[in-house]
Amino acid sequence: MKVFVTGGAGYIGTHTVLELLRDGHEVCVSDNYRNSSPVALDRVRRLANADFRQCEIDIRDQDTLAQALADFQPDAVIHFAGLKAVGESSEIPIDYYDNNVVGSLRLLAAMDEAGCTRIVFSSSATVYGEPQYLPYDEQHPLAPTNPYGRTKLMVEEIIRDWCRSKPQNSAALLRYFNPVGAHASGDIGEDPRGTPNNLMPFVAQVAVGRRSHLSVFGNDYATADGTGERDYIHVVDLARAHLAAIHYASRRQGCEAFNIGTGSAYSVLQIVDAFERASGRTVPYQVSVRRAGDIATSVACVDKARDTLGWASRHTLDDICQSSWNWQSRNPEGYGGDAA
Ligand code: NAD
Ligand code: WQD
Repeated sequence: MKVFVTGGAGYIGTHTVLELLRDGHEVCVSDNYRNSSPVALDRVRRLANADFRQCEIDIRDQDTLAQALADFQPDAVIHFAGLKAVGESSEIPIDYYDNNVVGSLRLLAAMDEAGCTRIVFSSSATVYGEPQYLPYDEQHPLAPTNPYGRTKLMVEEIIRDWCRSKPQNSAALLRYFNPVGAHASGDIGEDPRGTPNNLMPFVAQVAVGRRSHLSVFGNDYATADGTGERDYIHVVDLARAHLAAIHYASRRQGCEAFNIGTGSAYSVLQIVDAFERASGRTVPYQVSVRRAGDIATSVACVDKARDTLGWASRHTLDDICQSSWNWQSRNPEGYGGDAA
């Protein structure tokens, strides 16, 4: 298939582009590099030993996007482009609505102009909000508690209406749980700018010596050891879910949401322990207060993805920590350490 990938230079995008190329698909990546580096795409080329188109386009630039789509004539679009930091989304909400919601509207309009009818969208488990029951299944009420999550829910609804408007349109909304880990080569991985917001890259930077210690945000939750539990999904498994989703969208019409997780949850202290084993380093930590907006446990019901997409996660927590350490130790400064 010919696949157009927005935000393809980012963390999940690069891993997905690599899997697409390895599976023999033809790819065109567009990104504005607001949160990524073209160096990452050079590394994908090297790893895949295959080439692809690459264009610098902001998804809000509908005319340029429509032209790129018309030139490439994709069978499907995978839409990663957007801003993703929960805390920042409360500080600059208009930027988040503009990038994520307006950007997605422009993308869909450009797809209409170019006659492209299939999309796979990066949604998030954050659309569920406070759990009414666990594990979250796709029927769980949707009540995001921050602007970032609301942008994801709004775009889900927009895509549903886009699918209702024309019988040939189809979409898969992938609700990722907690993406972590890196490609086994250690050549591509997560490269957050500034202080990492998320647990796994923070732990990795402590292990490699870039930061002195981890702050554990609360140990008084109603969990086995008192620290927050999450469903961590290996980024290569997540990338494979996109391949399953484009095949699904090319067979089916309409719009379906899928949880993409493992169905198991691990606590902060279990992550620290597993990372210490994988890296052979100590990860010093201090317990601090709870982070505002955090919940005790988040875990996916993954039955629908297994039964409908034929997809399931394969990697273990040890694989996750091993690959994350491999990436971090080989690239202590992320892509910034690469002169290429
Ligand atoms: P990322 O920041 O590494 O990748 C997003 C990419 O989109 C970046 O390369 C960025 O430069 C690009 N981008 C941002 N705004 C753009 C715009 N207006 N025009 C063109 N390009 C733009 O993030 P990621 O972790 O790879 O996440 C990819 C997608 O998955 C995002 O939509 C994110 O919200 C979603 N998601 C991520 C997580 C996670 O924890 N990483 C969880 C759930 C959902
Ligand atoms: C995991 C656990 C923290 C950092 C976020 C977004 C979600 C999705 C994935 C985009 C929690 C604890 C963390 C630290 C800690 N992103 N923690 N010390 O909050 O589950 O999900 O990323 O869609 O929308 O909200 O992930 O990695 O930030 O936190 O103790 O320095 O680690 O309290 O229990 P989260 P996370």
